[in-house]
Amino acid sequence: MIATVTLNPAIDKTAKAARMIPGQVNRMDSIANIAGGKGVNVTKILRQYEYEVTALGFLGGYTGRFIKEQLAGMGVECRFTEIGQDTRCNLNVISEDGYVTELLEPGPVISKEELEAFYAEYQEILGKCELVILSGSIPKGVPENVYAVLTKMADKAGVKVLLDSSGEALKAGISAKSFMVKPNLKELEGLIGKKINDREEILTVADSFVKHGISHVMVSMGSKGLLYVHENEALYAKAPLVKAVNTVACGDSVVASFAMSLMKGDSMEECLKRAVAISAANATTMESAVIPKDVAEELYQKIEVETY
Ligand SMILES: Nc1ncnc2c1ncn2[C@@H]1O[C@H](COP(=O)(O)OP(=O)(O)OP(=O)(O)O)[C@@H](O)[C@H]1O
Ligand SMILES: [Mg+2]
Repeated sequence: MIATVTLNPAIDKTAKAARMIPGQVNRMDSIANIAGGKGVNVTKILRQYEYEVTALGFLGGYTGRFIKEQLAGMGVECRFTEIGQDTRCNLNVISEDGYVTELLEPGPVISKEELEAFYAEYQEILGKCELVILSGSIPKGVPENVYAVLTKMADKAGVKVLLDSSGEALKAGISAKSFMVKPNLKELEGLIGKKINDREEILTVADSFVKHGISHVMVSMGSKGLLYVHENEALYAKAPLVKAVNTVACGDSVVASFAMSLMKGDSMEECLKRAVAISAANATTMESAVIPKDVAEELYQKIEVETY
């Protein structure tokens, strides 16, 4: 079983409208609500490939119940910690004039008791899972070093940690030596505090993480592809050319794919090819974290891997 942790999930509400004008009544033509947050996206992808998943994190209010119902409907074992405040709902208005207006809620504040209840739930799940995926941002009330704490707890239980976050949360997880980490270029630059100019520099940084004790490092470069460093090997695969409709959750697709490869015992090359194919397939659909499996399979046959 795979466990996913989404500390700061959200409903992603997408609205379509003719136009958006501040200070006026703006009528929406259509609305779509989906359960979101990076860990939730990973969870949804794993379920599409029929992996057994237990989802943890914080959920509250009717927005929280909506997310839980959506995940449970996909066959996810929901072990979220219930909180007093409401889970976020982020509104994205796409208007015909070409503007995209985002209204992002501040999100709930987690209390000490809720945090303790989450740690207890997490500890229990560590006894039942093979790997745990820590994804996304940290809500208020949860310490910034939480991914370091969770990584050390997993280590003690002999459970591997896959980490995908940014800023201080990512730094904390890396310092605690997660098993795998998947920064994108911007996150990698944030970590080292300077701009990265070429692939050689990416490789140098990824290599330093491996030397520090992170077993697998995948650096995603959007439409440019994916670099994968493990032990003394470095592989790169170019992203296939696809008609990209929505690239949200491409990174989450890489993390989910890596988890599946780890469970199957894929070779490094196969693992990289699968991740590049699945994430490109994700980009071809409007809905994020929905993988057209036939497209992914077709792309997989064409991915070429370069050795460094
Ligand atoms: N336009 C695209 N066409 C094909 N593949 C893509 C495209 N955009 C992204 N990908 C694939 O998805 C992988 C992850 O994308 P990216 O680097 O944008 O992740 P990210 O910034 O972490 O995304 P998110 O956090 O929204 O999930 C890339 O390494 C690439 O293989
Ligand atoms: Mg990402």
